[in-house]
Amino acid sequence: MASVASSHAPGGLSADIPVKLLAWYDRHARRLPWRVPPGEGFQDPYRVWLSEIMLQQTTVVTVGPYYADFLERWPSVHDLARAPLDAVLTAWAGLGYYARARNLHRCARVVSGELAGVFPDNEADLLKLPGIGAYTAAAIAAIAFGRRAVVVDGNVERVAARLFAVEAPLPTAKAELKRLAGQLTSDRRAGDFAQAMMDLGATVCLPRQPKCLLCPLEADCRGQAAGIAAELPRKLPKAAKPTRRAVAFWLTGPNGALLLRRRPEKGLLGGMMEVPSTGWRETPWPEREAAEAAPFETDWQVLPGLVRHTFTHFHFEVTVWAGRSKKRHLPEATGRWVALDGLDGEALPTVMRKIIDHGLKQTAILIEAEKMAGDG
Ligand code: ADE
Repeated sequence: MASVASSHAPGGLSADIPVKLLAWYDRHARRLPWRVPPGEGFQDPYRVWLSEIMLQQTTVVTVGPYYADFLERWPSVHDLARAPLDAVLTAWAGLGYYARARNLHRCARVVSGELAGVFPDNEADLLKLPGIGAYTAAAIAAIAFGRRAVVVDGNVERVAARLFAVEAPLPTAKAELKRLAGQLTSDRRAGDFAQAMMDLGATVCLPRQPKCLLCPLEADCRGQAAGIAAELPRKLPKAAKPTRRAVAFWLTGPNGALLLRRRPEKGLLGGMMEVPSTGWRETPWPEREAAEAAPFETDWQVLPGLVRHTFTHFHFEVTVWAGRSKKRHLPEATGRWVALDGLDGEALPTVMRKIIDHGLKQTAILIEAEKMAGDG
């Protein structure tokens, strides 16, 4: 008797995976601010682009308020292109990876100025734009234009590693996982398919405890069949992060304003505002050496405690010194006085907000202690 074999995709997985996945997505798609509901056509490319840039290395929950704020300030790519870079950096502050904000602004200028505000509708042309890499180009082509594209983020890598039981570790396995994801990718409802893969990874095919009982692809999953789904994808051990250290100078001037300066355009936190500091290095800073790096000579008080922050490639530990200055006018390289109630309007990255919180708290304690001593 002829067997009633189901059709198979190349690589041996069932060819109806896209059908099952889309049916699941129709019922379980997350409602996200930048998304049109399943089956309801395409989202505005400007919105897709903005959300996808924001979502890189950041969670959906974090991005929500930033996305709403950007759209309110700059409803179209022309509006964003006209904005001063500093306004964009300020609105981005807290999202991290500030080079993305700079590229976002550059890209808006190109699309607005050279392409009449129209985003390219294909991966090859999208890739030519500032800040648009393989992932973002594929995501925009699929979600905004319905083009078949292999959209692979960390969630999709995990889904593919498990479905195909790929045991090679990341990052070595990246190219192979993209090839395998490509075998599954549907040309029907390309945007929904891409987002269905991401949602499956984010809500069902979870990193540590996958909810295989809820998974529409459980019967197809080789990782699950082999009992190793939760272990995949394997990862090469990460190199230990070094710790860099700095002394930051909490300098208050006339009327209690705080000294801030702008970081160089190139490099980490490029163009963002900072509390002035020594260089950032692994060797601790002896007092004399740190004092030489200060913007002014003054009577420094070392504030108790440390500010800690972790960047992608290193841990950061900051000691804060407090001092006062009477100078009203400063050379531009030194920085400028910013009133404490004006700090929200500055492009301050998270690490600098932590330093400022620490400075505010510790100087308040110090002032209180001085008062008590005076009273006694
Ligand atoms: N992560 C990044 N982009 C996403 C999208 N469009 N849907 C769900 N998760 C995402």
